[in-house]
Amino acid sequence: MARKKTKVETAAEKETKPVEYMEPRRSVAFIGSECHPFVKTGGLGDVMYALPKELAKMNCDVRVILPRYECIPWEYQEKMVYRGEFYMDLGNTGRNIYVGIMEYEEDGVVYDFIDNKEFFSGPKPYFNLIDDIPKFCLFSKAALAALNFLNWIPNIVHCHDWQAALVPVYLRTLFSDTPVGGARSILTIHNLRFQGIYDIKTIRYWTGLPDGVFDNPRLLGQDWLDANIMKGGLAFADRITTVSPNYAGEIQTPEYGETLDEHLRYHNCKLRGIVNGIDCDVWNPDTDPVLAANYNQKNAVKGKKKNKLALQKELGLEEDQNKYVIGLISRLTNQKGLDLVNAIVPQVLDEFTQIVVLGTGDRNYEDSFRYYENRFRGQFSACIQYDEARAHRIYAGVDSLLVPSRFEPCGLTQLNAMHYGTVPIVRETGGLKDTVEPYNQYTGSGNGFTFDRYESGLLLDAINRSKTLYFTEREYWDEMLIRDMNKDVSWGNSARQYRDLYMELTPW
Ligand code: ADP
Ligand code: GLC
Repeated sequence: MARKKTKVETAAEKETKPVEYMEPRRSVAFIGSECHPFVKTGGLGDVMYALPKELAKMNCDVRVILPRYECIPWEYQEKMVYRGEFYMDLGNTGRNIYVGIMEYEEDGVVYDFIDNKEFFSGPKPYFNLIDDIPKFCLFSKAALAALNFLNWIPNIVHCHDWQAALVPVYLRTLFSDTPVGGARSILTIHNLRFQGIYDIKTIRYWTGLPDGVFDNPRLLGQDWLDANIMKGGLAFADRITTVSPNYAGEIQTPEYGETLDEHLRYHNCKLRGIVNGIDCDVWNPDTDPVLAANYNQKNAVKGKKKNKLALQKELGLEEDQNKYVIGLISRLTNQKGLDLVNAIVPQVLDEFTQIVVLGTGDRNYEDSFRYYENRFRGQFSACIQYDEARAHRIYAGVDSLLVPSRFEPCGLTQLNAMHYGTVPIVRETGGLKDTVEPYNQYTGSGNGFTFDRYESGLLLDAINRSKTLYFTEREYWDEMLIRDMNKDVSWGNSARQYRDLYMELTPW
């Protein structure tokens, strides 16, 4: 039997080895309203899962605080461990409200779920503002109270979107004299369209915040009638981030500022844009268990063809690997540029082209895609559903993916697409502009096809340019596909920027 040799390190080798630098440990509480795999309606859920995981690798002690929604699948509920309970007052309700803490741990990240059956019941996380305002007032307050209760006082409280935007406000008001009051706060804007605006009376009732914050137009005051939770969070947070540098600039303009552009310009010295990444363990075509065939950069062209055929079969489309298949995976809302898509479907479809849509949302979009499926049987597939596994198979099986958004803070579907060797066709807005470099036929560079103004004709033109390359210069298309797969869309770089921001806020 061959003996295994143990290598003895020489003195020279020892000297050239880089000294391992242990970064100072920082503790961070992530507070937000959704997180994959427990509950997800869009990209926020992906970020709340992937970013803490990446930060945990960078010597951050991370806890993610979430509502314990009734709709979290039982397979996760049953693994949660009871950590304690307490009672808490809430605003001017005069009630003493139960708060339970249920815990779950994975990949070095601890998840603490705030339990209260009355507030977090129902089949989905969000309903309408009348229900959601009390829910997230309770959640934000209970999240801070839970940190005190657990005696786990973080250096940083990192809050996400309007549902957690009351946290920085509470931190500097009702909680300022409690242990957690010493933490620094960051509010990340994933989508400025949703701000939690409601009449002052109601928000005062549920939060119990002092009158001064409502009267002041630089704090929660929206106008004489309404209060704005996001606005208050932005004012009280120590730092504001958003999910791409381009969107950070855009939201300071009236066009994209959703009426908070002036407020954001006022606070712009604490505003920063950090582009999202994707979790390359969850999104990996080489190991993805739900694909018909796994592939990597070396065999992508062949691998994608197999996935295309399997997808066509799955969706009842004409099975032909030479068809050009265009995908769309999206919440079906006004943000996503679906009017542009609707306007041009008949012009895009020809005997060589197919379209696959996966999404749920506004009734008018769902219906118009169903109409196209009926009209173009075998060529157009409308999957009006939310289905993670099918999304993976679409990213793998289509040739290109449309993201023609009206506005897009970052966008993850174009990143998933590129990682799966699918060429994105995007509007040059928000994070789409930061992440997709337009194809340049002269230099052979770029990752996808882009257009600027929000016009259906320009989207059609971009799709036609993609078709021309696909059908007439396939070798260049294949090169782009590999370039896209090689592009670094992981969280590494961006998690580092968040970490630097944490250090900037806690420089000791
Ligand atoms: P947004 O957060 O605005 O919805 P993003 O592009 O940031 O947009 O993130 C969308 C995420 O949700 C992606 O991970 C995408 O794959 C997923 N997704 C969207 N619609 C569906 C659907 N119908 N089924 C499965 N996944 C979906
Ligand atoms: C929001 C945005 C999307 C972004 C996601 C995650 O839902 O619409 O652009 O990628 O949040 O940050």
